[in-house]
Amino acid sequence: GTVLHVLGARPNFVKAAPVVRALDGRGAAQAVVHTGQHYDERMSEIFFTELGLPEPDVNLGVGSGGHAAQTAALLVGLEEQFVARAPRLVVVYGDVNSTVAAALAAAKLHIPVAHVEAGLRSFDMTMPEEVNRRLTDQLADLCLVTSPEAIGHLANEGVPVDRIHLVGNPMIDTLLANLDRFDTERARAEHNLPERYVLATMHRPANVDDPATAAELVGHLHGVADLADVVIPVHPRGRAALLAAGLDRHPRLHVREPLGYLDFLAAVRGAAAVVTDSGGLQEETTILGVPCLTVRPNTERPITISHGTNRLVAPAELVPEARKALAAGRPADSAAPLRTPPLWDGQAGPRIADVIMEFTRG
Ligand code: UD1
Repeated sequence: GTVLHVLGARPNFVKAAPVVRALDGRGAAQAVVHTGQHYDERMSEIFFTELGLPEPDVNLGVGSGGHAAQTAALLVGLEEQFVARAPRLVVVYGDVNSTVAAALAAAKLHIPVAHVEAGLRSFDMTMPEEVNRRLTDQLADLCLVTSPEAIGHLANEGVPVDRIHLVGNPMIDTLLANLDRFDTERARAEHNLPERYVLATMHRPANVDDPATAAELVGHLHGVADLADVVIPVHPRGRAALLAAGLDRHPRLHVREPLGYLDFLAAVRGAAAVVTDSGGLQEETTILGVPCLTVRPNTERPITISHGTNRLVAPAELVPEARKALAAGRPADSAAPLRTPPLWDGQAGPRIADVIMEFTRG
């Protein structure tokens, strides 16, 4: 039977690449359904090209919308695909709306589900991702976890232990496999980046959807730009609110279009520090040894704090914390080896493929 991967949004592509590759190496029959949740060339296609992901077998083109409309379109489109293709297993990634919709559609058709990056919890149900994570894990037959504390979270929610597999972090597989392709000088020339800069990203609904909150954040980002140049590739969500709040009205704040995977990671690698509200970037900075200030009240990835470079900061703490981080320099530049989370070693894809092969044989 076929292993069917459902991919929808930018971070899904980065996590799936090593899994698809490892399954290929084991001779598995595979199909890729792209839901079309992300559709801009810079949000989607460039990732497929750069990461060597196979062309999707189909793109459902669900596009953007409110949670209800988007999730409804995902459910209808995915159910049709699952009925037509009758896969042996559906593999879903992360915590986006495409993830939970695929798990729900598959479960109702009695098709087993594997969830890559299961068990992460922020315990903040105001985040759409937390809702998506919890529901997906209840529906999954295989919970593939990136970090040991996820096992306890799943057990507390009644997930039987024999469904849970600690496999490591496939996003870090992609990072390590492409390290040699992160060319900071090329990215600097191509995107006109300053010599020394803080790299910022901001797209969480809690930070950018409300104009007053977005304006407050822009004020603090300008404060950081008083200390050092700031480069901010803007995610389409929040672009309007951030620009309306005057984001680009600071001579040392450099607004850029969303970058592809290779240029983005090259820019991260070359940054003096990162300011973000992204999930994946907390993990990537941990491995690259770049100080990361996460502008959120909580994180579903606490291992990036205990084992990495991440710190949670309130908006009002951003400027003083950035000043400290810039003064301290980057752990990557020091002689001491970085402490990294267990199994973030570039072999998560092969481990996931082994679990999947074992399951689909059974
Ligand atoms: C989604 C995920 C989020 C993840 C993020 C990564 C959900 C609930 N959220 O958020 O967890 O961190 O992806 O990028 O699934 N848009 C475009 N072009 C695109 C895609 C989106 O312009 O290619 C704009 C549209 O105005 C859209 C808005 O961005 O309404 C939000 O897109 P959506 O897919 O709903 O969620 P994200 O904010 O991207």
